[in-house]
Amino acid sequence: MSNNARLEYAGKSYEFPVKKGTENELAIDIKTMRSATGMITIDPGYKNTGSCESAITFLDGEKGILRYRGYSIEELAEKADFLEVAYLLIFGELPNQEELDKFHNDIKGESHVDEEMKKILDGFPKSAHPMGVLTSLTSALIAFNPSSVNVTSEKDMYWAIVRILAKFPVLVSWTLRKKKGLPLDYGDDTLGYVENIHKMMFKRPNHKYEKNKVVIDALDKLLILHADHEQNCSTSTVRMVGSSHAGLFASLSAGIAALWGPLHGGANQAVLEMLEAIEADGGDTKKYMNKAKDKEDPFRLMGFGHRVYKNFDPRAKIIKKAADEVLGDLGVEDPILEIAKGLEKEALNDEYFVDRKLYPNVDFYSGIIYRALGIPTEMFTVMFALGRLPGWIAQWREMRLRNEPIGRPRQVYIGHPSREFVALDKR
Ligand code: CMC
Repeated sequence: MSNNARLEYAGKSYEFPVKKGTENELAIDIKTMRSATGMITIDPGYKNTGSCESAITFLDGEKGILRYRGYSIEELAEKADFLEVAYLLIFGELPNQEELDKFHNDIKGESHVDEEMKKILDGFPKSAHPMGVLTSLTSALIAFNPSSVNVTSEKDMYWAIVRILAKFPVLVSWTLRKKKGLPLDYGDDTLGYVENIHKMMFKRPNHKYEKNKVVIDALDKLLILHADHEQNCSTSTVRMVGSSHAGLFASLSAGIAALWGPLHGGANQAVLEMLEAIEADGGDTKKYMNKAKDKEDPFRLMGFGHRVYKNFDPRAKIIKKAADEVLGDLGVEDPILEIAKGLEKEALNDEYFVDRKLYPNVDFYSGIIYRALGIPTEMFTVMFALGRLPGWIAQWREMRLRNEPIGRPRQVYIGHPSREFVALDKR
């Protein structure tokens, strides 16, 4: 049997090779389609379109599987820390102790952010959305690190990666501290990567920084769960922008903007605002279930549904358990958690949600943990960005090392055919 797919159109037959991935996923390779047939494919939202071959993350939406470089998300969330996972995603293998120490030391050595950057942050009103601030600061960082722009060797690439992993947490913490009216601090070299992020975010002036293992472990787990998710909207944006050979930081800045939207990373903020609104409205979850099902009503149950996961989101399972543990350990009793559990129970037994395979996604519970950790709602998507950073970097690096061509989709034009210009006084 030939390993080709056949396309028949207008009495002609064309063959295209079929590619098979490591996990037996099949794809028709249509690279030669336009030159052979004069036709293109059309697929808004890219629901059936593979944009690349990638060796980073595998997910099977039907089976609820998510693996980074072959390792299951469940095992990584339990046994690895965020920096190890970042190394794994970016360089392909889990680091040994020596490699991890070197990586961490290199990051520590680059963790200074130019003081001038504070002036840029100062220009933003306190009310600015932190995602807007973060995308701008990431872009501004280019001016202070020009050598990170045109990377031509793997060595340059390594240092661009180290620099952003070092400086991005500083930008995240400054964004939070600006919002809270706290002085803009730096980190502490003696702390672990995530511990240091925690310190930079939460250390209060005139108070000694105190480690909180429960909080740091929860943060670590959340960051790991968000670290990569193959060709989603923001990652595709990073690869697309990077494909023009814009530098790493510019590509990341675009990725942050893509993540901001409520249908993507912004969902975690939207979920919490929705839960708060339901609580303020008397806690009637049924009313909101009905709104979500009403096609005349634009309301959607935020934190439900996923483009790829059609049975369950494995990250949501881990996060739900973590939310229970963190709230228990911190002694937080949050009525919002009860509303979330009620909504989940109703949706899982509701024909509309069952038929459409709509299950809670990663963002349904992450906001509840962030809230328990004292992170303002508007910062939730920033936390997602912090977690996704290694994934974006890994995808950008892979795209550059594979020398992928510039991303440039085609279209089917449906506008006016050619027409004559009409002078202004004749219109
Ligand atoms: N509430 C109510 N109905 C929904 C929902 C929802 N949350 N999600 C999908 N539907 C319905 C939708 O109306 C459609 O119904 P019908 O077939 O009758 O027209 C059907 O389910 C299929 O939806 P879709 O919009 O075609 O699915 P999609 O794959 O294009 O969208 C999604 C996926 C995540 C954008 C969508 O489910 C959604 O808007 N969810 C809420 C936002 C959210 O939680 N986003 C976070 C995603 S996870 C984090 C990340 O990776 O970014």
